[in-house]
Amino acid sequence: MVDLAAAVLPLSLYVHLPWCVRKCPYCDFNSHALSGAPLPEREYIDALLRDVALTALTTNTRSLRSIFIGGGTPNLFSAAAIGHLLDGVAHHFTLASDAEITLEANPGAAEAQRFIGYRDAGINRLSLGVQSLDDGLLQTLERIHTADEARQSIGAAFNVFPCVNLDFMFALPGQTMDMLGTMLREVCAFNAPHLSFYQLTLEPHTPFHHVPPEPMPDADAAASMQEHVEGILANAGYARYEVSAYAQPGAMCAHNLNYWQFGDYLGIGAGAHGKQSFFDSEGQIIRVARTIKQPHPRRYMDAARTALETAVVESRTIKRDEFAFEFMLNALRLKNGVPRTYFPERTGIPLSEIASMAQDAVARGLLEPDDAIFRTTELGWRFLNDTVQCFLTDGR
Ligand SMILES: C[S@@+](CC[C@H](N)C(=O)[O-])C[C@H]1O[C@@H](n2cnc3c(N)ncnc32)[C@H](O)[C@@H]1O
Ligand code: SF4
Repeated sequence: MVDLAAAVLPLSLYVHLPWCVRKCPYCDFNSHALSGAPLPEREYIDALLRDVALTALTTNTRSLRSIFIGGGTPNLFSAAAIGHLLDGVAHHFTLASDAEITLEANPGAAEAQRFIGYRDAGINRLSLGVQSLDDGLLQTLERIHTADEARQSIGAAFNVFPCVNLDFMFALPGQTMDMLGTMLREVCAFNAPHLSFYQLTLEPHTPFHHVPPEPMPDADAAASMQEHVEGILANAGYARYEVSAYAQPGAMCAHNLNYWQFGDYLGIGAGAHGKQSFFDSEGQIIRVARTIKQPHPRRYMDAARTALETAVVESRTIKRDEFAFEFMLNALRLKNGVPRTYFPERTGIPLSEIASMAQDAVARGLLEPDDAIFRTTELGWRFLNDTVQCFLTDGR
């Protein structure tokens, strides 16, 4: 019975490594500046392994399709530590033979030699936070690396990993279309299998939000930059398959696809989020829970050493009337949408229950009138928030 559930509902693992050399002024991720303090590598990996062991008890025989080690700056950790972590995961879980195993890295903390160690430890995909190839913009973003250091890391990553993703941001303070165009030409020449282009967001509670850097491109300029990114990358053979994600054929990110397709994922580490479905003996979903682990690294490690259950600071069952919105919030980010059958399979709710909301979105020209797939129209893609709002139920 559990095997049936496993067959339809993929399971991934996210591992959070929360430290950075210093905190970037735009960043609202759960990342903590080391500020010269030593990295508590051993203690943190031990805490993660206890977390892995306890979490594995809740998943029966389901195997992992992907692992994503994110941050923070995971490449502050040694290859031996990453190897120890992956060995521990492999001890408690079956890994799919083609599992995608990604490590996020910051070029300012990267040494080529470490990349080889990561690969030998089992990492098969590197995601490099490049952000820009313009030294002035990198300084504005207060990144810890120069453009040349980023180029060197990119070269080293290509030499070592079968798959590489490069993260960039656009609509940066003082960035012009010409600057973006110059960078895009260089980016295309790298020929990376996967690219992510995020529009800079001034997130609440960040220094950039309190004192916005100037001059910020206005909304029209940002929209033109988004179109420019998509157009140039399309000519270079990249499909924009999600709001911020671009892939060469066959190189979509399996781990992120699982989030957007409303699959299950376990979250290990400080502040990690998880989503897990529970099944009855017929393989039908009876409950879907979201969990959040203790965000503060010190408190997380203390909980792992003493009473690991207390590392879960939030555990919430998704309510019946929340599913439509939560599902669409993820699924409609995908340019090609998802099969309609995913909704009942992954929420336990019949399609008939959201039929009138879907019809409304179709009538407004936001959703394609396709019986097999939930997919936005061009209009629905442009006004994605409005499209997703069609699936808000009265109770919310
Ligand atoms: C968790 S970060 C990981 C990469 C690594 N820590 C680094 O910065 O090099 C993931 C990506 O999110 C993007 N990002 C972070 N903060 C952002 C913001 N405020 N607006 C837009 N994109 C952002 C950056 O492109 C970053 O590489
Ligand atoms: S290096 Fe990445 S995770 Fe760390 S503060 Fe900067 S953007 Fe955030």
